[in-house]
Parts: sequence; C-alpha cells; structure tokens
Amino acid sequence: MPRLIFAIVLKLALLCGLSAMAQEATTPAAPDRSATGGAQTLDDILARQRGEPIDDSFRSMATGDPNSAAAMADQLGTLGGQSDPELWRALRYNSADLRVSAGGEVATVLVQDGGMRWLSVRQRPLRTYGGGLLLVTIGLLAIFFVLRGRVRVDAEKTGRTVTRFAFFERMAHWTLAGSFILLGVTGLLTLFGRVAIQPLLGKEVNSVLLIGSKWIHNSVSWAFMLALIVVFVLWVAHNIPNRLDLVWIRQFGGIVGKKHPPAKKFNAGQKLIFWSVILFGASISVSGLSLLFPFELPLFAKTFTILNDIGLPNWVGYGPLPTDLAPQEEMQLAQLWHAIVAFVLMAIIIAHIYIGTLGMEGAYDAMGTGEVDEAWAHQHHSIWLEEVQEKERAKPQEAGATAAE
Ligand code: HEM
Repeated sequence: MPRLIFAIVLKLALLCGLSAMAQEATTPAAPDRSATGGAQTLDDILARQRGEPIDDSFRSMATGDPNSAAAMADQLGTLGGQSDPELWRALRYNSADLRVSAGGEVATVLVQDGGMRWLSVRQRPLRTYGGGLLLVTIGLLAIFFVLRGRVRVDAEKTGRTVTRFAFFERMAHWTLAGSFILLGVTGLLTLFGRVAIQPLLGKEVNSVLLIGSKWIHNSVSWAFMLALIVVFVLWVAHNIPNRLDLVWIRQFGGIVGKKHPPAKKFNAGQKLIFWSVILFGASISVSGLSLLFPFELPLFAKTFTILNDIGLPNWVGYGPLPTDLAPQEEMQLAQLWHAIVAFVLMAIIIAHIYIGTLGMEGAYDAMGTGEVDEAWAHQHHSIWLEEVQEKERAKPQEAGATAAE
C-alpha cells in the first residue's frame, strides 16, 4: 500500500513537473540551472529529445580547470581540479588536451556530434530528394514526349551530309558520357544499396556490388576528369553566350513551337548543358578528390570563410557559416555536396540523353557517326551550316590557287 501511494505521488509530481516544463517551453527565457549547480537539467534533456535547438555551450565550457589552485587544494585524487564528468565532457566536446602518437589531428577527435547529423541527412533527405529529383525528371520527360512527340526534321532529307563532330570530339564525348554513367550508377548503388538492393537480393549480393562500385567509382573518376578537361578545351569557344541565344530562348528553341531559331554550332540550350557539365562536373570532381584523399583536401572551412567575408550567408538568412570544422566534418560536408551536385547533374544529363536520342530525330547521328543530314543541320544550326558550307566552297579555290602558284 505505501508503495502504491508513493508511486501515485511520484507520478503526480512528474506530471506537475512536466506541465510546468511545457509552460516554460513556450517562454524562451534562459533556463534556471541553479538547482543542478549549472549542470544540465531535465528541461535541457527534454528539449533535446524534442529536437529543439539548444545552446549547450554551458556544458561544453564546463570542463574544469586541472591547474586551478583552489581546486587542487581540495581532496580530489589524481585528477586534481578536474573531475571525471568534466574529463568525459572535454572528450565529448573535443576540448580535451589530447596527445596522440599517430593519426595526427584527426585522431584527437574521439566523439563528433556532426556525424549523427550527417548520417541522418544522408539516410533521409538526400535519398528522398535526390532519388525523387531523378524520378520527377524522368516523369516530366515522359509527359513531354507524350504531349510534344519527337522533334522531326521538317524538310525532306537531302541525303547530303556534313561532319558535325570529328572522331576526336566524339571520343572525348563518349569517354565523358561513359565514365559519367558508370559514376552515376555506382554512386547510386552506394547510396541506395542498403535500402534497395539488400532487402531484395540479400547482404552478400549487396556487399559484392558495393565493393565493385567503390572500385569502379574511384578508378573511373580519373577518366571523367580528364574527359571534362578535353571537352572544355574543345568546345569552350563555341559556347560563349551571344545575342542569338536570347532569340533562341524567346522561341523556346523551336522545341515547343514549330519555328526553329537560327543557331551557330551550339544553341542556347546546348550552351546551358555545356556550362552545367563543366561547372557542376568540376565541383563534383573537386569534392570527389577531397573524398578520395581523406583529410588531405579540406574545402569547406576555407569556402565558408570566403562566403562569410562576402556576407552572402547573412544576406540569405543563414549566416555566418561555421568556419571551425573538425576534419571529419569536412569529409561529411564534402560527401553531401558531392552527392547533391551529382544528383542535379544527373537530372540535367537525363534530359540531355532524352533529347539526344528519343526526343529529336537525327540528333544521335551527330555523336554516332559524326555526320548529319544537311536538312537537319539547316533546321537546328542554320548559321553553323552556312559557315561549314562557306569553308567547303573556299577549299577548292584555295587548292586551285596553291596549284597555280
Ligand atoms: C547515352 C548518353 C548520351 C547521349 C546519347 C548523348 C548524346 C549527345 C549528342 C547527340 C550530342 C550532340 C548534339 C548536337 O549535335 O548538337 C551531345 C553533345 C554533348 N554531350 Fe552528350 N550524350 C550522352 C551523355 C552525355 C553525358 C553523360 C555528358 C556529360 C556528363 C554529355 C555531355 C555533352 C555535352 C557537354 C555536349 C555538347 C553540348 C550539347 O550538345 O548539349 N553527354 N550528346
């Protein structure tokens, strides 16, 4: 009986306590921690469990002073002025004066909070939004195909062809494309293997796929980076924006309407693809290198410092960004950035593959054999066709002039 009464009293006391806490939660006043001597209170623990952002600097700062003369005067045993909880807290908040015999700065971090945040972002939003973006892109393209159909060559084909891309250009393109597709597939397997492959095919199959993916991903990345540089050098001159691009954009490139605006070698749509591939591809490459050589190429503290100096984060309401990052945090941010930009580029490339195959009659020939029908060239790149024909006409005259000399 006394036990029952005690249990009821305890419950009531807890309930009163909880409702008082609920009221307190609505008022943002600084919590009173006098009852715990400055240590965390039940309020703090509950707030953390509710996922509320809490300023726990009062904990991370409370790591004692081992050299305090006053503290040393007390009988505290071998830890001097520092108590066990304080030491653990110092380890927990990475402020302990750790000396390690190997592993460098990285090994001095024993507990790293950010790891949990990174893990939950990688497991949830990254998979959901990243995978969602690819599926939505494919869905939108399917709807577009149903509504618009294939972009046909309007005029009768001439049977005469012009060289659109030389062998070397096509090789560079297919090295870039082949490596990107391999990187995309192996990257997706790495991110989704545990949730998509493992439940279906089991741990063993997933493990083999992941080991293979890692090897392919790490090795093929070099081919991608090399091809990216070659493609940039080959095509950058043709991709400088000009006034014609505005006309092309205004007419939606003739893809939505029926009128085909004039264009040089690359139209505004292709320039957008080119610059996306170059800029996003470069960003994926740099963050990938940072992941390939762990802790050797930290990028984010420096980038955040520059952004803070410019004032950009404050301007968009997210500043200032943290600039004191643990080596592990640098790696976590590199992984997230690498994956986010890769998802964006994959979505863009899915649209590019669509228009280069199913979406436009005759487009694939440009990268397949390198030869396109003059009717196709006239419809999509009229100014470029004139330039090529002009050069062709000039050739025999040049040759004749040299022969006459
Ligand atoms: C199976 C996959 C792919 C196909 C079928 C394909 C097809 C094509 C075609 C037909 C062209 C020439 C368009 C023209 O004649 O004007 C082209 C150009 C180009 N491709 Fe691809 N491509 C593929 C994958 C990729 C990938 C993965 C990348 C980069 C990561 C890429 C980057 C480019 C770039 C930068 C151009 C020049 C700009 C443009 O035409 O949009 N391609 N591609």
